[in-house]
Amino acid sequence: MIYAGIAGTGSYLPERVMLNAELEEMVETSDDWIQSRTGIKQRHIARDDESTCDMGLVAAANAIASAGVDKNDIDLIIFATSTPDQTFPSTACLLQRELGISNNCMAFDVQAVCAGFVYALNIANNFVKTGAAKCILVVGADCLSKIVDWTDRSTCILFGDGAGAVVVTAQDQPGIYNSVLHANGNYANLLQVPSGVSRPGNKPYIEMTGSEVFKFAVNSMESIVDEVLTDTGLEQADIDWLVPHQANKRILSATAKKLSLPVEKVVITVQDHGNTSAASIPLALDVAVNDGRIQRGHLLMMEAIGGGFAWGAVLLRY
Ligand code: ACO
Repeated sequence: MIYAGIAGTGSYLPERVMLNAELEEMVETSDDWIQSRTGIKQRHIARDDESTCDMGLVAAANAIASAGVDKNDIDLIIFATSTPDQTFPSTACLLQRELGISNNCMAFDVQAVCAGFVYALNIANNFVKTGAAKCILVVGADCLSKIVDWTDRSTCILFGDGAGAVVVTAQDQPGIYNSVLHANGNYANLLQVPSGVSRPGNKPYIEMTGSEVFKFAVNSMESIVDEVLTDTGLEQADIDWLVPHQANKRILSATAKKLSLPVEKVVITVQDHGNTSAASIPLALDVAVNDGRIQRGHLLMMEAIGGGFAWGAVLLRY
């Protein structure tokens, strides 16, 4: 059997930190409200001239170094983002150019908003299992500050910018045990940027019915953790770390409770990063690998939900 496993991790956060106090100057809100409803204390904001690909490049270089692979061995780049640099080419192709690995390497973007990284990891797993690729660079990066309406207090307090990356390689032991994905476009209007290329509109900013997203997120995250464990021979009690999408600390606590995991076993970075969409899971993973919490052999559950709605989970041994 061939399995996909994570050989290395990397991340990047823009230098500029925006505290809740700064938002108090911009909209009618308070540090106390933001922290109590979301857990967020600060977020990082990209420079005007800093793009999603720029952030992904640093995260990717760190992941390649951490994996100890030759960049020329990478045969596929999957870039999860909903804030691409350009309409086309894909951000994955732009990253490929910047990394200088244009030979014998496929590259494409995945757009599943906050679930982008779990979608990308699922796809990477299938490429490895079918033998179609052996060394895959999976990047999750978003520059949400550029699509946030900074006058809308219900959304602008939530989001931040950043990038995370992993190198996924073929190995003879798991690795990824299981991965499940879902989507339901009937919920599209609850979380959207209602302008695009073929339907330009006049509001290229995030709109969200937060309370409805919250309810759906809690319910779907509860059911998906059971689903991804099915037929793996593993149980909730085997999970060492939950590495969830970082949208709201209250959603993370509810999922941990469902898993009967003490909250100390949940990697929580939302207080420092805000919601960085496709970047949030690989960013959280890299933080916990670097500070020594996540170690080789640990069983990890990753799960995310975002616009679409699109949601999914991955169960893997690091
Ligand atoms: N500061 C102060 N008051 C605020 C703010 C703010 N920043 N934002 C909203 N309020 C007010 C509202 O106006 C409302 O006032 P009212 O009662 O007088 O009408 C009150 O606070 C409660 O508003 P709710 O929206 O019901 O607040 P809630 O407790 O649901 O928290 C939040 C809002 C934090 C957005 C929450 O709903 C949430 O986290 N939702 C899920 C977000 C999420 O998971 N997104 C995931 C995917 S993101 C992606 O895919 C890009």
